[in-house]
Amino acid sequence: MTGMLQGKVALVTGGGNGIGREAALAFVREGARVAVADYEAASASETVAMINQAGGQAISLSGDVTQPAAVKAMLDAAVAAYGRIDCAFNNAGIAGHQVNASGKLTHEWSEESFDRMIEVNLKGVWLCMKHEIELMLAQGGGAIVNTASVAGLIGLRTSSAYVASKHGVIGLTKTAAVEYAELGIRVNAVCPGYIVTRMTAPIRETRTEGILARTPMRRLGVPQEIAEMVVWLCSDRASYVTGAAYEVDGGITAS
Ligand SMILES: NC(=O)c1ccc[n+]([C@@H]2O[C@H](COP(=O)([O-])OP(=O)(O)OC[C@H]3O[C@@H](n4cnc5c(N)ncnc54)[C@H](O)[C@@H]3O)[C@@H](O)[C@H]2O)c1
Repeated sequence: MTGMLQGKVALVTGGGNGIGREAALAFVREGARVAVADYEAASASETVAMINQAGGQAISLSGDVTQPAAVKAMLDAAVAAYGRIDCAFNNAGIAGHQVNASGKLTHEWSEESFDRMIEVNLKGVWLCMKHEIELMLAQGGGAIVNTASVAGLIGLRTSSAYVASKHGVIGLTKTAAVEYAELGIRVNAVCPGYIVTRMTAPIRETRTEGILARTPMRRLGVPQEIAEMVVWLCSDRASYVTGAAYEVDGGITAS
């Protein structure tokens, strides 16, 4: 049986951990070769080792998505290895606790924390899209999926700049979808709810009960459940889907 992405090449940012790692493994299971990018070079290499062990093909790339030269170098290296990029999953991101903003209301965020959040979660996605789109225009098409969040659809207490960044990701997604629809590039977003990764470790320690209370399925998600949506959105089975932001959230945004 051939996979949904047989013969395709995929790039995953933030591929060294959590959702990105599971997406990289899922891309491979569906027949793609994968470039695993992360600014934690060792984590990216670990994902590649897992892929190789499973009999798949992958390369690891290191670089910060906020650095234009690093992003261009990542794309160039992926193309040097595989000749093209059919699927790009722009997933690298950070949460409030990673910019010293845990528990802070909007007026309590520092300018520094706000800037770094927007730089990684929003500008980083745009920089990757910029170079991916240039490449996909030249090669005649492709599919891009950006990681937004339920925080891209609703407000969440003490997550000010995170929520703003993820709303921005959906805005970028919709705009690019409209701009390149006739040129063979589909652009979509995935909106995870609360997923068990290291990113949510601090809030899982203190807020799991509250999160489960507002999640109709009464459980957290696992990264594989996001990867399934990402793979489908990248595949030809989603050939008429562009500009969409799909919730994979156990029903949070429906309730
Ligand atoms: N875990 C959740 O509940 C959840 C919910 C909604 C959205 N998300 C989003 O999913 C994405 C992945 O999150 P995760 O939970 O897998 O987190 P994670 O911390 O496990 O993985 C994120 C990865 O991104 C990498 N990264 C961070 N900043 C980077 C940068 N500037 N350049 C390159 N790589 C960078 C990290 O090194 C890490 O490997 C993020 O965009 C996050 O906002 C997560």
